[in-house]
Amino acid sequence: MNMEPGQMYPVHTAPGVFVDHEALHNLVVACSRSDARVVLVGFGEYAKHLINLQGNHIVAVYDPNPLYAGREMHFRGVPIINDARKFDANLIVCCEYKYLYEYFGQVVRLYDWMEYYYPPRLHYKDTSEIKVWEQESLYQSILKNEEDAPVSMMVKEKIRFLVELLRAGMQLHPTAAVLEQGSWQGGSSWFIGKALRFLRQGRTFYMMDLFETHSMDPTATMCTDEIRARMAEVYDHAVMITGLVDDPACLAQIKGPLCFAHIDLGFQEEGLRFAWDNLLPGAPLLLDNYGHLGAPPWRFDDFFAARGTRVIRFPWSEQGLVIKT
Ligand SMILES: C[S@@+](CC[C@H](N)C(=O)[O-])C[C@H]1O[C@@H](n2cnc3c(N)ncnc32)[C@H](O)[C@@H]1O
Repeated sequence: MNMEPGQMYPVHTAPGVFVDHEALHNLVVACSRSDARVVLVGFGEYAKHLINLQGNHIVAVYDPNPLYAGREMHFRGVPIINDARKFDANLIVCCEYKYLYEYFGQVVRLYDWMEYYYPPRLHYKDTSEIKVWEQESLYQSILKNEEDAPVSMMVKEKIRFLVELLRAGMQLHPTAAVLEQGSWQGGSSWFIGKALRFLRQGRTFYMMDLFETHSMDPTATMCTDEIRARMAEVYDHAVMITGLVDDPACLAQIKGPLCFAHIDLGFQEEGLRFAWDNLLPGAPLLLDNYGHLGAPPWRFDDFFAARGTRVIRFPWSEQGLVIKT
């Protein structure tokens, strides 16, 4: 039957729809070392099988699910915890793919870089590279129900990159505002709002667009009331400014410096100048339409050359990044 000594059932008899047998086998081997006192990371099917099969070596299970916070939970006597308690352990084993980066790192740091293990493949996925979109709580939160997001002209990858830049700008400047010029139906804005809420921000997020005042053309499907209601669902401090981004009366509504700007429209000099002048040092300015000849890119190139800098291009999209100097 090919079982480890003392094992209750062979790994390959665990339901294959729920567990990757190769991964479970590797996890069982890692936990079966005679002196192993293991804390597991992630209370899912793998942890439950490990407790069934190697329970005498498992000291505790860490899991960030709020279900396990503030209450005593056990599985076959092994505590499942969601706090920073430390146990007398000598090995940390990650057994949930979604925790491999952020949460596993937190537990490893809690134990001051004690010996840790993760299998080369976990739940049929290679573990050699991190996947922050799946393994970080921010993205787990903002990408949950992604299919419910307002329609966007931006592909998913662009929005993920935008959120990364937003975070970098916010970290540099803890209270400064966020600006988007060109929100259309609020697709990119919705993710910005969700990220700001997840990160418990109170800073203002300004969204500029013509919205319903846009001339009647095939893109004129922005329903102002709907966008306002959708934004109110995700962030309390979003301000919609309706009108041209070059209009001084619109720009006058934006208060305070900026930590990040997303400009998703063609070259509009006054709007761009306003964003640039109000960005704080080091803050990212993300251009979405930069790579479209219609934007046109030369105008952006000249604008930034006159300010002693240039647009950073990306091989995978027409987005352009400029860091405020
Ligand atoms: C490419 S779309 C924005 C897409 C949006 N970020 C998304 O996630 O789907 C460009 C938007 O810019 C707006 N726009 C274009 N020129 C503008 C201007 N001069 N002033 C204000 N808004 C403008 C349009 O109304 C349109 O909604």
